[in-house]
Amino acid sequence: GLGVINIPVVVHVIYSNSNENISDAQINSQIAVLNKDFNATNGDVNQVPSEFAGRVADSDFNFTLDQVIRVSSSRTSWGTNDAMKSSANGGSDVVSPATHLNMWVCNIGGGILGYAQFPGGSASTDGVVVSPQFFGTTGFVSAPFNGGRTMTHEVGHWANLRHIWGDGRCKRDDFVTDTPSSDAPNYGCPSYPTVNCRSNDMTMNYMDYVDDACMYMFSEGQKSRMRAIFAPGGARASFLG
Ligand code: ARG
Ligand code: ZN
Ligand code: CA
Repeated sequence: GLGVINIPVVVHVIYSNSNENISDAQINSQIAVLNKDFNATNGDVNQVPSEFAGRVADSDFNFTLDQVIRVSSSRTSWGTNDAMKSSANGGSDVVSPATHLNMWVCNIGGGILGYAQFPGGSASTDGVVVSPQFFGTTGFVSAPFNGGRTMTHEVGHWANLRHIWGDGRCKRDDFVTDTPSSDAPNYGCPSYPTVNCRSNDMTMNYMDYVDDACMYMFSEGQKSRMRAIFAPGGARASFLG
């Protein structure tokens, strides 16, 4: 196997006020959440119902904070067209995307928590974007998305995971066999069982749309799908040198 996959992280903080210029402590709190969630050492993993407990994955990723870049801007919302990834637009240019996960923390606006680029896209825009109030667990954070799970979800996309319901009706797949079929996202904090497509939804999966406190697992199938792109020939093989 590949062993532990080490992911050095570059955080670009783009701010128009002092709240958005998040602290180093807030940044470190986000890295800590990633290291728990991608190793199944998160404190809430024991809430996984027994039906799914055998599918909980320790994905074996290790995230380290490599660099923080801070950029002051008069722009108060950035949308989702990647403008924050360009210094020519007042944002901050990507750093070493072949070997580093780039995270842009800036106010996206429009009620959007975050977004990600899948593997195989343009190097100049590779990475994930999350609004500051949904990044990390301390400082300028906003419930119910103050558990750092927006970044867990976005890094899942960056590592090739689809939404658990496959972004379509029951027959649309997420290309992962051990995640049950569903027809739509779940929100809030669903009770178990939540039945759709004649099976119980894995609502507690990071790739659903539930509140941070109600998502606490990746599946073994998702782990395989993520790790495959870091293997030789995969779109992110360059991370392993
Ligand atoms: N809507 C965003 C996306 O699809 C993120 C959702 C994150 N959910 C959460 N509970 N933090 O990429
Ligand atoms: Zn998503
Ligand atoms: Ca599935």
